[in-house]
Amino acid sequence: MITVIGNLKGGSGKSTVTFNLALWLVYHDANAVAFDLDPQATLSDVAEVRREEGFEPPITVFRAENDPAAILRRHGGEVLVDVGASNLWAMRQAINMADRILVPVTPSQADIWSTQRFLNIIAEALRSDRRPEILTFLNRADTHISVRESNEAEEALSSLPGVTALRTRLAQRMMFRRSFSEGLAVFELEPSGKAAWEFNRLASVLYPQFVKQPAARRGQRQPRREQIPEH
Ligand SMILES: Nc1ncnc2c1ncn2[C@@H]1O[C@H](COP(=O)(O)OP(=O)(O)OP(=O)(O)O)[C@@H](O)[C@H]1O
Ligand SMILES: [Mg+2]
Repeated sequence: MITVIGNLKGGSGKSTVTFNLALWLVYHDANAVAFDLDPQATLSDVAEVRREEGFEPPITVFRAENDPAAILRRHGGEVLVDVGASNLWAMRQAINMADRILVPVTPSQADIWSTQRFLNIIAEALRSDRRPEILTFLNRADTHISVRESNEAEEALSSLPGVTALRTRLAQRMMFRRSFSEGLAVFELEPSGKAAWEFNRLASVLYPQFVKQPAARRGQRQPRREQIPEH
């Protein structure tokens, strides 16, 4: 399945989410690769940091700005595509290859407006035979309950037509920032931290087929031989 992570707005968390999702998939035994279609190449840079640091497991990130459609088509399994507005041509190509489009949105009025513009771009770019699912979620949400902006933004997203607004937010947390600078996923940096919990929840909603069963339920214990009733 091809999941494109996109939005027009810079800094909404596309590359952070793509990087963490790629690692989450690898940890969950999925055959996953990522494509960096952004000339800024942030995703490629963070994958390089991870490689240089020797962190395991590695993730595979391809640059494919010049011919995304041809290259994407060659990959089976789970494919993640990070697209920014700085290459609108590549963005349109990716949109037409996507099975679904994941749109991280920062909670502000400006971001809601730019998300609406992005939805228009998607609608204009799509060929008539393509109808990817479009999923939005809040990234960099306020952690304090008294700040109303995140709730308002989430409501605004849920009122957009043709879109599924996920309620699985990622908050504004230092761990997401560190994840990028250190080349580690948030669930590697602090496995029982809040960022890891939020991220696992988002990834589990996006990829329920890869969620591992708790160890106790994974294999039903076989009855011992002498307990098997004789017939
Ligand atoms: N939930 C979060 N909490 C704190 N910082 C975050 C969070 N998500 C992203 N960031 C930080 O925000 C900055 C922008 O994130 P990122 O580069 O992932 O966005 P982007 O949408 O890919 O941006 P661009 O459009 O420039 O490619 C980075 O410094 C990143 O560490
Ligand atoms: Mg980016």
